[in-house]
Amino acid sequence: MTDLFKEKARDWDTRELVRQLSAAVGSAMRERLPLSEDMTIMDFGAGTGLITGQLADRVRQVVAVDTFPAMLEKLQAKPELHGRVTARCQDILAQPLDQQFDCIVSAMAMHHVQDTERLIRILVDHLKPGGHLALANLDTEDGHFHPEGAQGVYHHGFDRDALAALMERQGLAEIRFVTAHRVERENGVYPVFLATAVKL
Ligand SMILES: C[S@@+](CC[C@H](N)C(=O)[O-])C[C@H]1O[C@@H](n2cnc3c(N)ncnc32)[C@H](O)[C@@H]1O
Repeated sequence: MTDLFKEKARDWDTRELVRQLSAAVGSAMRERLPLSEDMTIMDFGAGTGLITGQLADRVRQVVAVDTFPAMLEKLQAKPELHGRVTARCQDILAQPLDQQFDCIVSAMAMHHVQDTERLIRILVDHLKPGGHLALANLDTEDGHFHPEGAQGVYHHGFDRDALAALMERQGLAEIRFVTAHRVERENGVYPVFLATAVKL
């Protein structure tokens, strides 16, 4: 597989947009998820660990899943994540993990997977009954957030109602949306939602 994020991984953590977005999303997750010392969580599309790093001190273990090695190498190089974080470079849509989690989080990764319903189904399969899911991504946008022709971008944001319906179909309840952040750019303002839900 081509490592789409190889170049981006180099300076990912120093990008102002990325830093602000992940800080806001991580803070919204900490506020809305019942995190505790006995929990094991998965960060889907964990990248360099900007979200993982904000949750790891509150839980027993974080499994950071990503398909692009360059991003996970950055995550693994962070000494503060050693001990509580396990990196898995694996496409869990093709090869699920042999583990269920108390909570699954994902920030700005869902638009990289073409079939959203299948992704949610697989994430739900990885959740224990009563487990929590927290998904952050852009609200539906006009297609200008990513550069034209950006590889691996299958969705220009998500419609909250359509996503809620899809989550409900996959056995999730207590579905709530908040606006976790607004990316302000010269070409417009892009709200970022955090959707939380519980597996029945
Ligand atoms: C925009 S980055 C976000 C990274 C991190 N969550 C953050 O907020 O900084 C998207 C991440 O999703 C990962 N990704 C893309 N497709 C994926 C897939 N099918 N399975 C797991 N991770 C994937 C990419 O490698 C990348 O690290």
